[in-house]
Amino acid sequence: MNTTDNTPKGDELFKNIISHCKEYGYIFPSSEIYDGLSAVYDYGQYGAELKKNLRDYWWKSMVQMHENIVGIDSAIFMHPTIWKASGHVDAFNDPLIDNKDSKKRYRADVLIEDHVNKIDAKITKEVEKAATRFGDSFNEETYRSTNPRVLEYQKKIDEINNRFKIAMDNNDLIEVKQIIIDCEIVCPISGSRNWTDVRQFNLMFSTQMGSVSEDSGLIYLRPETAQGIFVNFLNVQKSGRMKIPFGIAQTGKAFRNEIVARQFIFRMREFEQMEMQYFVRPGEEMEWYNYWKSERIKWHRSLGFSESKHRFHDHLKLAHYANAAADIEYDFPFGFKELEGIHSRTDFDLKAHEAFSGKKLQYFDPELNENYTPYVVETSIGLDRLFLAVISNSYHEEKLEDGSERVVLRLPDFLAPVKATVMPLMKKDGLPEKAREIMDMLVWDYNCQYDEKDSIGKRYRRQDAIGTPFCITVDHQTLVDQTVTIRYRDSMKQDRVPTYTVSGLIAEKVNIKNRS
Ligand code: GAP
Repeated sequence: MNTTDNTPKGDELFKNIISHCKEYGYIFPSSEIYDGLSAVYDYGQYGAELKKNLRDYWWKSMVQMHENIVGIDSAIFMHPTIWKASGHVDAFNDPLIDNKDSKKRYRADVLIEDHVNKIDAKITKEVEKAATRFGDSFNEETYRSTNPRVLEYQKKIDEINNRFKIAMDNNDLIEVKQIIIDCEIVCPISGSRNWTDVRQFNLMFSTQMGSVSEDSGLIYLRPETAQGIFVNFLNVQKSGRMKIPFGIAQTGKAFRNEIVARQFIFRMREFEQMEMQYFVRPGEEMEWYNYWKSERIKWHRSLGFSESKHRFHDHLKLAHYANAAADIEYDFPFGFKELEGIHSRTDFDLKAHEAFSGKKLQYFDPELNENYTPYVVETSIGLDRLFLAVISNSYHEEKLEDGSERVVLRLPDFLAPVKATVMPLMKKDGLPEKAREIMDMLVWDYNCQYDEKDSIGKRYRRQDAIGTPFCITVDHQTLVDQTVTIRYRDSMKQDRVPTYTVSGLIAEKVNIKNRS
């Protein structure tokens, strides 16, 4: 069937995705009956399945497909000195600023970044205009390096970025405020430039461990899963007889008391990370850093995204532990934003844990016949952000030939929460019993649903909205010749096939190996 894509863009798309996620059991605001909890969300029945499929795909490709990478599951609570050693107690801060008129709080760095993005958008506009004007003869590189207006904008961007980098390196918060004033950045709510001073705010949540107040000690909820890997480096290396280069991966919850928590599941206070620390010989870290940059972008594209949806952003301001860092950014409905970080973390963490614990965390390299502290290249992705990227890319509003409309989640088959739904055409004549028989056969192979409520058309629409790639319909002919119809979500095409072939047909399509 021919369809017209009517999917909106930008804010409207984002708003529609959020309400779709709620209506179809993907994501609910946390504690909703108590009016919610800011920047905390719950995954519903389909959301939990999709999230699990994404986590499993990451685990499969990062851990099980690499002989030299193993996975662990460390505790969320860790010795508090770990966070002193890692630098998080002293340096895991965001610079915050308040607008005195709206009483709204902002991250100073985000205000500056948004301002820079606006200038960058002007460059993009100039380039697009010129591309239309010059047609095939247009050379973007030459235009960007010669057009006076573009050069002027770029100069402004570089000046602001440089000033900001120097200010942050020197922890000069007065200068950060001055940049905001000089750039004439206004509060998006009040429109005023009536700012407080900039101050640092630590993002870690803390709590008490121990039942009696005198015994109890301050303890943090981990803000990243990585430290659980570093402190287990020798345990894993020795017990697994791992040889450098090797990796340790894990997935799990992380917690950050974000100042500006907005954009749905993009920036949450409780979220999930999937991280891998790759331990390498000192001096070889840049080679591995570039290797993992290229591997990770390929991995993202294997999820069915077009090339234009991702880009790299190299960091100007490096975290306290890194000597090189880049983000893989995704083109979310609100623009390009960080999805994954690739960091060359040097030997900072292992050395710091050696110093604070007094225990050696070194590796004996049999090929070099020497001991050293390995360097580390990290890949770190937020599972919730990946979820948002996948949902945003899959969500489509379509107008059909007959004038009706549908919302469809065009999820890759191997990621879909429900792979197949079995439907008896009617709730009588033995059709439900036959459908149940087929369901009982399929349920061993993949996640399936049984649905007999409402008209068949309504049931198809419901499955389209959930993203189910295959619907199996049992009708009177099934009872005669043991055939069913299989209906494909994306094309809406239907084929009549022998019942015994259904399981294999779907298994083939939902297998990770056969992802397109
Ligand atoms: N171990 C390194 C690390 O944690 P990061 O860049 O701070 O680096 C890695 O975080 C990834 O975790 C980000 O690229 C993002 O996908 C995800 N992430 C970070 N903060 C988040 C938040 N508040 N909500 C959702 N995801 C977040």
